[in-house]
Formats: sequence, C-alpha cells, structure tokens
Amino acid sequence: MNAPRRTKADAILASLPSPMQNQAASYLEAGEIVTEVKNPGVLLSLLPSAARGFLLKRGKQGVPTLMRASHDAYFDWSYTADQTEMRDLYRRAKQNQWDGEVALDWTTDVDPLNPELPVLPYEFFASARLSEFGIRYERGSKEEMAFRYDMLAWMLSQFLHGEQGALLASAQVTESVQWMDGKFYGATQVMDEARHVEVFHRYLATKLEKLYDVNDNLFVIIDALMHDARWDMKFLGMQIMIEGLALGAFGLLYKMTKEPLLKNLLKYVIQDEARHVHYGVIALREHYQTALSEKELRERQDWAFEVALLMRNRFMAHEVYEERFQGVMSRKQWNEAVLTSPGMSEFRHTMFERLVPNLRFIGLLDDRMHQHYSDAGLLRYAGGKNASQLSGDEMIAELDRRGLGDMAGAADQQLAAE
Ligand SMILES: [Fe+2]
Ligand SMILES: [Fe+2]
Repeated sequence: MNAPRRTKADAILASLPSPMQNQAASYLEAGEIVTEVKNPGVLLSLLPSAARGFLLKRGKQGVPTLMRASHDAYFDWSYTADQTEMRDLYRRAKQNQWDGEVALDWTTDVDPLNPELPVLPYEFFASARLSEFGIRYERGSKEEMAFRYDMLAWMLSQFLHGEQGALLASAQVTESVQWMDGKFYGATQVMDEARHVEVFHRYLATKLEKLYDVNDNLFVIIDALMHDARWDMKFLGMQIMIEGLALGAFGLLYKMTKEPLLKNLLKYVIQDEARHVHYGVIALREHYQTALSEKELRERQDWAFEVALLMRNRFMAHEVYEERFQGVMSRKQWNEAVLTSPGMSEFRHTMFERLVPNLRFIGLLDDRMHQHYSDAGLLRYAGGKNASQLSGDEMIAELDRRGLGDMAGAADQQLAAE
C-alpha cells in the first residue's frame, strides 16, 4: 500500500513541538468542519459547539463542564394515555430492568493482555498496516496486545462519555416531550442510561484501569444537543444518531470480543438501547408527519445527513494517536490507517445499517435526499429493518448468527496487499 500523501499543512504540523502540534491540529479540525459540512444552516448550528469543543477544549478541562439548557418543560395535568406504542415500551422497559451489580459477574478476572481471550481481535486494526511507518507489532506479542487494549479502552471510554450524554439528554427529553406516555417511558430510559454509565465506568475503572478523555467530536455533538431548545433535535441527535451509532458499535464489539464479562455487559446494554431507538423513531415519525412545516422538515433532513457523515469521518481515536504515534506518523496518516482498517470499515457498515432505515422511517430520507445518500454510498442501507421492527433479542440473535462476517477476510486481503 502507498503511504497517504503528505500535504504542506502536514509538513508544517510535523515540524512543531508536540504540545503545539496538538493545538494546531485542533484548529485544523475545527476548520475541517467548515469544509466538511456543506449546508450553511447546519454549519451555523454546529459552530458554537465546535469552538467550545476543538478550540476551548471544554471536554478536557476537568470537572465541571457546564452547558446551559434552554428547552421548555411541558406539563400535562390531564394525564391522558396518549400513545399506545410508547405505553407498551414503558411496560416492557419496567419488566426488563436489570441490576448491573447482580446480573454481571464482576469477579471475572480480566486480563486485556491475554492473547487466549482477546478483548479485541487482531483483525480489528490489522496493525501490520502500521509497519510502513516503522511500527512493527508482532501478532499476539505484548506490544500488539497493549495496542488492542488501548483501542478498546478508548472505545469504551467514548461509550461511557456518550452514555453520560444520553443520561442527561433523556432527562431533558422527559421534561420537554408532549406525550404523557412518552414521559413515563422517558423515565425508564433515564434509569437505563444511569445503569449504562455505572457498568461501563466500573468496567473501565476496575478491569481495564484506564479512562480516556472525551473525544472532541463527540463533545461537539453532545454540546450542540444540550444547548438546542427544540426537543425533537435532542431526540434526533441523541435517540437516532448517537444511539444508532452506539447500537452499531455495541453490536460489533459484542460480536468481536472474547472477554466474557464485556460480552455479557454489552448484551444487556444492547437490549436497553434497542428500546431507546424504538422510542426515538415512533416519537419522531409522528412529530415529523404532523407538526412541522416543509422548511422545518428540510432543516432536520439536512442536519441528520451532515451529522451522519461527520460521525463517519471523525471518530479516529486521536487520543490513542497522541499517546502512541505522534511524531512517528502524521495525524492524517493515522486517520487513513484507521479509516481503512477492517474493524473500522465493519464498524461503519454496522452503524449505517442501523441508522439509515430509521432515518427513512421517520421521513428524513425522502426523494429530495435520495441523491445525497446515494452519492455518499449510504442508500444501500435504506431497505433494512428500522428500530420498530427489531427488538433487542432479535438483534442479539442476528449478531450471534452472523458472527464476524468478512472482517477477517478483509484483514487478510489488506495484509497480503502490503
Ligand atoms: Fe445507553
Ligand atoms: Fe440509550
């Protein structure tokens, strides 16, 4: 494989001392949002959060990070049962509560460096790709296992930070949603998200003993949602986009890991998340069909499309890069290596497989948007099952049936091509 081409900006960046490299790279990343997001309205809505995330590094300055909320709380003194499907989900959510302290076996001995029970498969990154930069990790060696360990800790740390976003966003949505049955259901989701924060944090703190900072791109999206006054934007951003992405990522990790405690933890979390996305799609489908003007609907369509692409292009484990490879390869070369790794390709596939049918179901992928999705190579996912057609149990059964799919094959092809 040819090494990615270095631009003038890369060369200048590489000549700077490390702390300055990080600062300059942050400015570049903020600048890249301007070129990546094509829709001016969407860009304007994201810029304040991009400034807080990339330039001011608000997610990396310790406790607390304050975000001002500006939504209306919606009260209904009539307590009418007003949405049967949500009432049904509420019932199921009550019946399926679980206690992370009891349901999971925390006495399991987890050794992330053990090649017999790998936390991630070698194929996830196919780290032989790094050899073109002089980084040689022999498969199953201590160094290579430590690299997998870092990648897993980075992913789980971002899951944890995303779960905190979901905890606070679901509390906001519970206040602002107009259906009484939606508020009941929302309360169960708040509890679910608290439990997810609890179990991911416990796993990271006591089993991996490593926690990465929140990724700036994730921070930007959470920050934008927490500030937005419109409940449906919180819903769209959190229940459909972030939860959709998380569901894809959890599913992939569930398929990949051989570590039994993590696998079981993910199985429980996936079943909760399937309900959350289901709630998101029924609430938004109804709202988007009945309550929005043409202009408002278009705004949501553009926002969802642009944010989907941002999420695809920008979660690059830069915190791992800075810790391990800065000075050895450029940030851009690292991005290329991540983007083309078999695990990340599979990750994008799984994520869009979950997300795109939901966008179609709620009316955000209509004839006007067809061409955009087609150009981005995403239209092929549109015919899949949406969240109202797929329960958590069905999702787990499908993951078990499909196993690792083509990932190992893709990794072999890549390694053979070098
Ligand atoms: Fe969650
Ligand atoms: Fe969730």
